[in-house]
Amino acid sequence: MNARWSISGAASARELGLAHRGACAIASGNGLEVVRLAFARLSAGEHPLDACVAGVTLLEDDPDDVSVGYGGLPNARGEVELDAAVMDGPTHRAGGVAGLREVRHAASLARDVLRHTDHALLVGEGALAFALDRGYRRESLLSPTARTAYETWRRERDALGREPTGLLSDEDRWMLPDTHGAGPPIPHTHGTVHCGALALDERQAACTTTSGLSWKMPGRVGDSPIVGAGLYVEQGIGSAGGTGRGEAALQSGAAHQVVRLMAHGLPPTDACVALLTHVIDQTRDPRLLDARGLPAFNLTMYALRADGAFGSAAIYEGYFFAIGAESGPCLLPSVGILPRPGA
Ligand code: GLY
Repeated sequence: MNARWSISGAASARELGLAHRGACAIASGNGLEVVRLAFARLSAGEHPLDACVAGVTLLEDDPDDVSVGYGGLPNARGEVELDAAVMDGPTHRAGGVAGLREVRHAASLARDVLRHTDHALLVGEGALAFALDRGYRRESLLSPTARTAYETWRRERDALGREPTGLLSDEDRWMLPDTHGAGPPIPHTHGTVHCGALALDERQAACTTTSGLSWKMPGRVGDSPIVGAGLYVEQGIGSAGGTGRGEAALQSGAAHQVVRLMAHGLPPTDACVALLTHVIDQTRDPRLLDARGLPAFNLTMYALRADGAFGSAAIYEGYFFAIGAESGPCLLPSVGILPRPGA
């Protein structure tokens, strides 16, 4: 482990997660209602993949969640582009869509890729054509709130003129540094929802869906639709998923690593911490480091082991995850590896 920092916080959540056994749904901190619904569906005997998708669809329909589905923040041209994937433990099959426009239910469409094609990922126009073939509704995904935020971001970006700071070059505005905590007036967001589910009969599945990085370069795809990065499931071992800076998850094979670490015996929280420790240590680009030399972004990982033990960790303190289980849905603190700047 890197000597620059030490692990803190969430001791009770870690113990709670380690002690838990049996059916369970886990989700990112925006997923309290997601796990409530997913666990109810699991309890009714539904397939865990359908339970996950039903849960995250709540957020894809929610205009107040600006990170997912309808109401998600758009790319630099004001177009909402969605990424999503699902993975089924028993069949070890996955389905995903990336750069999907004008169809809000990206998670359901990813499940359709899994169930109705021989492929694992459809992108852009092809994903949209598949959606329309399957009868999905075509609509604008830009909510009034997201449009206002976009217009504000455009005004502020344009006000930077030709003297932006922190860019790769004067011409290259795609390299704006990521922010954690204090940053530009309208910070970029990597908001996303991940949901993993363990059924009563021990089948496992997972789903991750997002509008991705706000104000992103058109065509930019994050970790969410990529199997092994934004989600991964291995029946009999466990599931994992992540939210936060997708590039960091992609470059570390994040979800796959967490599941493999569990396969080698690490408890869920420790597997998340180990992966994130690796991410911190591998973050060397000065553009991605803050004044302390620490990552200027966050990544949060969620893990659900085959026996029902669960855990979550984040690069920074202050993040939460949702659990749906017998005792009812609750939010728990993710183990934070680094203190927040200024804390
Ligand atoms: N983790 C979501 C994204 O970076 O697109």
